[in-house]
Amino acid sequence: MTKKIAVFASGNGSNFQVIAEQFKLAFVFSDKRQAHVLKRAGALKIDSYSFELQEFKNKKAYEEALIALLDQHNIDLICLAGYMKIIGPTLLEAYQGKIINIHPAYLPEFPGAHGIEDAWKAGVTETGVTIHWVNSGVDTGKIIKQVRVPRLKEDTIDSFENRIHEAEYHLYPEVLRDLGAEEK
Ligand code: GRF
Repeated sequence: MTKKIAVFASGNGSNFQVIAEQFKLAFVFSDKRQAHVLKRAGALKIDSYSFELQEFKNKKAYEEALIALLDQHNIDLICLAGYMKIIGPTLLEAYQGKIINIHPAYLPEFPGAHGIEDAWKAGVTETGVTIHWVNSGVDTGKIIKQVRVPRLKEDTIDSFENRIHEAEYHLYPEVLRDLGAEEK
């Protein structure tokens, strides 16, 4: 089955860029109107939408607007790629089993918003990247695929981080291919 895919991103959008170059996407959504990902979408001629939580009376109303957008495009897979919000019960219920996320650590190690920094500070010899289904917890959904990334002796936090991002750019396309996403 051909999947209609939407990507959600809040910031830079380098994962979005990698996905968008390889797969057909319906649109990208950003919860930040100034996010760099929207410029990337423009350059790639991919439809984009943006609105912010603060523009709504509460998170339920914000997520209802998202559901309307997703329904309108018949989306059957939402790929979170640096989307810095917890998916609330409203959206989770409407798109149950259709939301995946990429996390820059080897879950269940180092969940949360600072997976790279936390692994670095803990002095690990290896970390990783995980793609998982989204549930109501923070980075606790069923794991789809993971890859290990070593920390080298000569690493700085920047080189460590770059190597983790490189692993992300391979893992997300692999998983999308496995899930039957349509390639360009
Ligand atoms: C990635 O490291 C991703 O794993 C995490 O947020 C970061 C997003 O980076 N959830 P980008 O916006 O794709 O460049």
